[in-house]
Amino acid sequence: MKRLDDFRWQLGKHELVPIMVGGMGVDISTSMLALEAARLGGVGHISDAMVPTVADRRYDTDYVKSKLKLFKYNVANSDKSVVKFDLGLLAEATQKHVRHAMEAKRGEGLIFINCMEKLTMNAPKETLRVRLASALDAGIDGITLAAGLHLGSFALLEDHPRFRDAKLGIIVSSLRALQLFIKKSARTRRLPDYIVVEGPLAGGHLGFGMDWAKYDLATIVKEIHDWLQVEQLNIPVIPAGGIFTGSDAVRFMDMGAAAVQLATRFTATHECGLPDDVKQEYLKAGEHDIEVNTISPTGYPMRMLKNSPAIGDGIRPNCEAYGYLLDANGNCQYIDAYNREVAAHPEAKKIRVWDKTCLCTQMRNFKCWTCGHYTYRLKDTTRRNPDGSYQLLTAEHVFHDYQFSTDDQIALPAAVETAAV
Ligand SMILES: Cc1cc2nc3c(=O)[nH]c(=O)nc-3n(C[C@H](O)[C@H](O)[C@H](O)COP(=O)(O)O)c2cc1C
Repeated sequence: MKRLDDFRWQLGKHELVPIMVGGMGVDISTSMLALEAARLGGVGHISDAMVPTVADRRYDTDYVKSKLKLFKYNVANSDKSVVKFDLGLLAEATQKHVRHAMEAKRGEGLIFINCMEKLTMNAPKETLRVRLASALDAGIDGITLAAGLHLGSFALLEDHPRFRDAKLGIIVSSLRALQLFIKKSARTRRLPDYIVVEGPLAGGHLGFGMDWAKYDLATIVKEIHDWLQVEQLNIPVIPAGGIFTGSDAVRFMDMGAAAVQLATRFTATHECGLPDDVKQEYLKAGEHDIEVNTISPTGYPMRMLKNSPAIGDGIRPNCEAYGYLLDANGNCQYIDAYNREVAAHPEAKKIRVWDKTCLCTQMRNFKCWTCGHYTYRLKDTTRRNPDGSYQLLTAEHVFHDYQFSTDDQIALPAAVETAAV
C-alpha cells in the first residue's frame, strides 16, 4: 500500500515531503504552524492578511491604534477614500512578521507567505507591491499568490533582486485562470515555480461561483496537468481542497501531482491560531452546519460555519482602523450594505446586516468561522475528553498522519490519561 511518504517534491535544490499547509488568514495559519510544517520537511504558510493587526497582537506594536488616531475624524463619513495605509509602516509590519518566522525556522522545509490580491487596501497596486517586496526583503522562502487573478503581480516584483531566486507560486481554480496568468506575465520571462489548483471543497474564499458544487478537483487537476504537458511546461501542480486522508493525497500524487496543499485538518491543532473555543465549534460541526454564502465583500463566495457570529452582525464599518478591503476608490460592499440598513431603520439600536459582513473586523476577531467542506469530519480525527469536548491535536500528529497513513485510515492521538477518582 502506497503512502504519501513514498513521494518527494523536488523544488529546485530542496527535497521536500510533499505536504504544504495552506495559508489561512487572519493568522489562523500562524508562524507556529508554518514552522512545524517546515521542521517536518514540508512547506508551511504564514498569511499576509492584515499583518499590521497581527503584528500588534504578536509583537506589541500599535499600528492599528495609530492609524485609527490619524483617521478618527472620518469615522462617521461613508466616504473612506482618505483612509490610506502608510506604506513605510506596512513594509515594517510585514518584515517584522516574516523575519519572526524565518529566524525561528528549523529543519529542511520551507516557509511561504500567502498573499491575497483581493486585499486592495485603498491603493491596490502600491500596497501589494510593498507587501510582496517586504516579504522578499525579510527573507521569505516563497510567495503564494492567492485570492484574485494577480495578473500584474509578477510585473510588480520584477525589479526585486530576489525575483528569480525566491519561489513564486499561484493559486488557480481553472485552466482558464492559469492560461490568463501565464499569458499576462509572459513579458517578465518567469513562470510560476508551482501551481496550487484549489477545488470547490476548500476553506476561505472560493474561486468559483455559487455553482461550486458542479466542479470537481480531480477533473480540474487533470485538465491543467494535460495542458501543461501539451505546452511542455514543467511546473509542479499541487491540488488543494478536500484532501482529508493520506490516501486521498496519494491518489493525487498518482495523477502526477508534485505535492498537496492541506488546511482543514490543521484547524484542530494547538498551533492553529483560532481560539480554542472556536476550534471546538469546528470539531463539533455536522455537515448541515456548513454553508457557502456571499457575505464576503470581496465578491467571492466563502465557506463558513452557519453559526459564525459574523453572519447578520451589523457593526459599524471599521475602515479607519483596518480598511483592508477598500478598493481603489475607498469603497467596500459592506459600507453600502450597512448604510442601507441604517437608512432603513433610523430608530434601531442594533443594526442587522445579512447580505454582507465587515470581513476585516470579523476575521480579526475570529468571528467569521471560515472552514473547508470536510470540517464535519474533524470529529473523526480525534478523541473526546471526559467533559465532552474534543482533544486538540499537534500539528506534528496531523502532518505525520498524512505522511504515513494508508488505506484511508486516520490515526487517533494517544488517549489523554485522566486522574482516577
Ligand atoms: C480556516 C481557513 C482559512 C483559509 N484562509 C485562506 C486564505 O487566507 N488564503 C488562501 O489563499 N486560502 C485560504 N484557505 C484555503 C487553504 O489555504 C487551502 O488551500 C484549502 O483549504 C485546502 O483544502 P482543505 O481545507 O480541504 O484541506 C483557508 C482555509 C481554511 C480552512
